Amino acid sequence: MPLEPAIESGDRSHTLAPVESVAQISSMLLDTDPTLDPALAEIARATATEGVVLLTNDGTLPLGERTVAVFGRVQVDWFAVGYGSGGDVKVPYIWNLLAGLRDAGVRVDDDLATRYSTWSAENRPVFTANWGQWPHHFPEMPIADAEVAAAASRADTAVVAIGRAAGEARDSILEPGSYYLTPEESALLDAVTAHFDRVVVVVDAGNVMDLSWVVAYGDRISAVLLAWQGGMEGARAVAGVLAGESGPSGKLTDTIALSYEDYPSAPNFGHLDVNVYAEDVFVGYRYFETFAPDRVLFPFGHGLSYTTFDLSTTVTTDAGALTLEAVVTNTGAVAGKEVVQVYTGAPDGALGKPARQLAAFGKTGLLAPGASETVRLTVRLDDLASYDDAGATGTRSAWVLEAGEYPVFVGTDVRSATRVAAFDVPETRVVRTATEVAAPVLPFERLTLARAADGSAVVAHETVPTRTVARADRILTTLPAEIPHTGDRGVDLADVAAGAASLDDFVAQLSDEELSLLARGDVTMDSPLGAAGNAGVLGGVSESLRAKGVPPITTTDGPSGIRLAAYASLLPSGTAFASTWNVPLIEELAALHGQEMLRKGSDVLLSPGMNIHRDPLCGRNFEYFSEDPVVSGRIAAAVVRGVQSTGLAACPKHFAANNQETNRTRNDSRVSERALREIYLRGFEICVREAAPRVIMTSYNQINGVWAHYHHDLATVVLRGEWGYEGTVITDWWIEESADPDFPALADNAYRVRAQVDVLMPGGVKRDGAPQAYADTSILDSLARADGLTRAELQRTARNVLGLALALKPVVDARTLEG
Ligand code: BGC
Repeated sequence: MPLEPAIESGDRSHTLAPVESVAQISSMLLDTDPTLDPALAEIARATATEGVVLLTNDGTLPLGERTVAVFGRVQVDWFAVGYGSGGDVKVPYIWNLLAGLRDAGVRVDDDLATRYSTWSAENRPVFTANWGQWPHHFPEMPIADAEVAAAASRADTAVVAIGRAAGEARDSILEPGSYYLTPEESALLDAVTAHFDRVVVVVDAGNVMDLSWVVAYGDRISAVLLAWQGGMEGARAVAGVLAGESGPSGKLTDTIALSYEDYPSAPNFGHLDVNVYAEDVFVGYRYFETFAPDRVLFPFGHGLSYTTFDLSTTVTTDAGALTLEAVVTNTGAVAGKEVVQVYTGAPDGALGKPARQLAAFGKTGLLAPGASETVRLTVRLDDLASYDDAGATGTRSAWVLEAGEYPVFVGTDVRSATRVAAFDVPETRVVRTATEVAAPVLPFERLTLARAADGSAVVAHETVPTRTVARADRILTTLPAEIPHTGDRGVDLADVAAGAASLDDFVAQLSDEELSLLARGDVTMDSPLGAAGNAGVLGGVSESLRAKGVPPITTTDGPSGIRLAAYASLLPSGTAFASTWNVPLIEELAALHGQEMLRKGSDVLLSPGMNIHRDPLCGRNFEYFSEDPVVSGRIAAAVVRGVQSTGLAACPKHFAANNQETNRTRNDSRVSERALREIYLRGFEICVREAAPRVIMTSYNQINGVWAHYHHDLATVVLRGEWGYEGTVITDWWIEESADPDFPALADNAYRVRAQVDVLMPGGVKRDGAPQAYADTSILDSLARADGLTRAELQRTARNVLGLALALKPVVDARTLEG
């Protein structure tokens, strides 16, 4: 297997040296073994293969026996993942495209391959050590027209590889080399399309980039394939698809528009302090299919195959649900998989509704030519309700089904799905009442739907409803009751696990200081209490807690692999996962990933990243799944179920509305409650209800003026109250300081604990923008005041954290330190 150097991604500037040394912690011993689990590598390859999306193909693919000239330095310097915590895995090897094509038996033109390999070796990509300053692309090798012509005399097909990366603290930008092609790349495409009759373009990128050139080149480009960033096995998977070892079966989880300006978020993305989510619920295809279908280059759900399928659907309806049996038949000449996608429409009413919304999906297994499979899917009528945040339907703060017809469409992308049935709702009906949460404080204009005289959809605007709830009252009327303090009674956490004592008996013993320690991690990243290179440790962070049986709980990034000082597998990134639309496959992969966590000493994987792809420029889109919350929620649930099947914990992040990296720790996402609930929270809700993650991470940004790590409405009212979440909530790494606007005696971590954001990670404070290796005293200071944080609230948070320790018990017992 060819070993290629991993892409360097720079050091984390906020990593600090340990401040405390704990002797003889076996898990700290540095694991220097580069051997990876072959089964995990194999499923990573299968996943990367299924994530590849074939956008166009005139029959040139698969390459078969053709001789192929491969252009573009990315064939050597392959982008396997994006930048930052979600990509910073110490991986022993990364396949590149050239090696992958040779491995797949493709007849590659050696002269050109040598030219690129030699040039690339002499012109290594330059990375600065500065966090967030990574290159969006690598400069292209200059190549003369005569060289392209010469290659065309030796090979009949060209493959051109174009690469991009973005990442944490590194949004894509509207410039050549990021969202747009560079002049050198355009020149390369000009030359190659001039000399070759068959040209295949491979886009190796974590984000959607401008693809308007696909239209401009027209039939001079024979096929375009989106590789995404598939981890260590990704390029090999792409090569396998190009060669025809496997057929493509990935589908877009985002709309690709004709131009950036077409995206409804475009005017309100990237601003430093405030981003107004003026497009409201009309995100991605919800906007395009309603208002601007002609601005779509490739619709949501699109992806070609090397074979063809016939779809025939039968529907059984009862009052509350509809069951579809879609018989998928492979009518082509080679094996393939197909994704059945179910969309619903909605009647006009008081609430403007998108023309189509994804309701369900399912993927077939590998179907041989002529073979059929029945995909069974269910759509529940109540799930089609819209959230009324204005009282427009007569009921404010409720999920409402407005009267009329809700058509159901089945197909293989959002655009071509055809109507198969409809629900009829005779009268407007409230499906579920809720309570107002996180509403905007300042009004703004949001987009909604109106009809022109001819019935066509036109954009209209309305003023977003603003907050009516008094947060202080809501908190004061729901404060928990205190568990009377008993002092140390010798109850060990193991006694609670064994059922010999209750969790309350255990918590009753804890001093204020012990309780406050459970509400923060071990001060720095790379804690000496966990495996080397960890992201932070929580739980048993003091001698006295460990003496009572509270284990240190090790967290590690992240979505694409375990980020430690030890070697680990680099897996396909989030968008590649989601583009498979294969829930069981992702769950299986995540279960093997969980086994690697066991071997490497990670208890909590800081994954999945599941923010909505609101805009194609968001730097972390590669870690996230989709512009659609149903895809996001279901793929996230698969990751959580898989990881947690090992007894460990997954940690969906970043809760919520973390949709850009620019000024991410201070930015305010101004969003209506309706859009928040229907789009930005919905994926988290699906994940929590389906998979019960043991940990959830808040985001850095503010939501309607309140930082996510202080957001009582989100962390307490919605997450725990409405969705029944019983796990631990942790912060993203460090928090912004702030006094509680309603309770002046609470600041910083006391303000956070009142919100039920349980644990500050990694645990130290941030002063003047820099992380410090000590904890603040804001919890104990506030506790000492009559009008401050109550002991009961701190006990409630301690219970949440100890619940995690107990859930992880089979694993952490073995690691529990001797007092
Ligand atoms: C990122 C998180 C990550 C954490 C720990 C933060 O900067 O936003 O996603 O899990 O660091 O590395």
